Amino acid sequence: MDTRTENWSGTAVHPVGLIIRQKDPNNLEMPFDQLGDFITPAELFYIRSHFPTPELDPVTHRLSIGGAVQRELGLSYADIRAMPSRTCVATLECAGNGRVFLVPPAPGAQWELGAVGNAEWTGVPLSVLLESAGLADDVCEIVLEGADRGIPKEEPKPPGPISYVRSIPRTKAMESNVLIAYQMNGRDLTPDHGYPLRAIVPGHYGMASVKWLTNVVATTQPFQGYWQTSDYGYWDDSEGTPVRRPLAEMKLKSQIARPRVYERLEPDRPCTIFGAAWAGDTDVTEIWISLDGGVSWVQGNFLDPICRHAWRRWKYDWITPAQPGRYTLLARATGADQCTQPDGHNPNFGSYVIDHPLPIEVFVAAP
Ligand code: MTE
Repeated sequence: MDTRTENWSGTAVHPVGLIIRQKDPNNLEMPFDQLGDFITPAELFYIRSHFPTPELDPVTHRLSIGGAVQRELGLSYADIRAMPSRTCVATLECAGNGRVFLVPPAPGAQWELGAVGNAEWTGVPLSVLLESAGLADDVCEIVLEGADRGIPKEEPKPPGPISYVRSIPRTKAMESNVLIAYQMNGRDLTPDHGYPLRAIVPGHYGMASVKWLTNVVATTQPFQGYWQTSDYGYWDDSEGTPVRRPLAEMKLKSQIARPRVYERLEPDRPCTIFGAAWAGDTDVTEIWISLDGGVSWVQGNFLDPICRHAWRRWKYDWITPAQPGRYTLLARATGADQCTQPDGHNPNFGSYVIDHPLPIEVFVAAP
């Protein structure tokens, strides 16, 4: 099967109506008001790339598994495709999603609500490859490297071009739904989404799901690369002295898709408030909506059952106020561990982890 031709001819994979946050490298977000089905079509799924998309030939592409292992492995794309596969649904959210809501403004791509999507991923569990390579007892992390290279824009810049590399803890890497994926929603990955092979790390912010995967390295020391420390890190001050740690699990979060920001609504009319909520390593169990900027809250209804690592769409049937004016809508999710979204952004996360309820202002006015 010549999957490359199918993908690069782009018959069904052209993005449709994405918002450009940056051109070359592509950083495109979904207009979140277009949220519809449980599964986000590939054409609407956000793209977040630090460097230009590499053109990789599936015939020559190889994935190497090395480092602190008993047997190094070198696998072709065809080898991976021939192995038993697993499919899982997972929500990917970029850690900077919602950055445009931060006051004062934070540097970086000004993502609104659409740097998040929910897709069905198919591939080979990473754990199968690691078991076959035989991890040394003292391995603590698995480093994932992509084929894309360049010099990052944010200081402190490394002295020369580097590839995109992230690590995940060994325990996470051994979870059965952490995949070396080659399909998204039943079709081969598109070039921008990591063709031919990418990691999918359900429950972690999107930065862990390394695209254009070339190398998997087992390490016995925590990895200290650029995207593990300088970028995609935060200050953990839970033990007094702040310590820099890599971002990992997605925080509990909910977003309103409709009505849209600054939408004009007619007074005293039915209006369904519609959105989605997701979490990292817990389940979303309740969704609460505020129609008055957070003074009071009413409970919404879920449209999807609990499916760990996948979002749950929800709705609330509202009758708009008879009184014209400006109204602020908020959504707040609760998790199975009784956690809820915080009131505001935690500055220890810098320009990342925007997990507080985001205000959607609407205008109620006679037509
Ligand atoms: N992998 C590589 N090789 N290069 C990248 O720039 N970006 C990461 C991750 N994997 C990135 C990468 C980030 S920050 C995110 S949020 C997700 O890919 C986005 O995946 P998507 O573009 O398929 O939506």
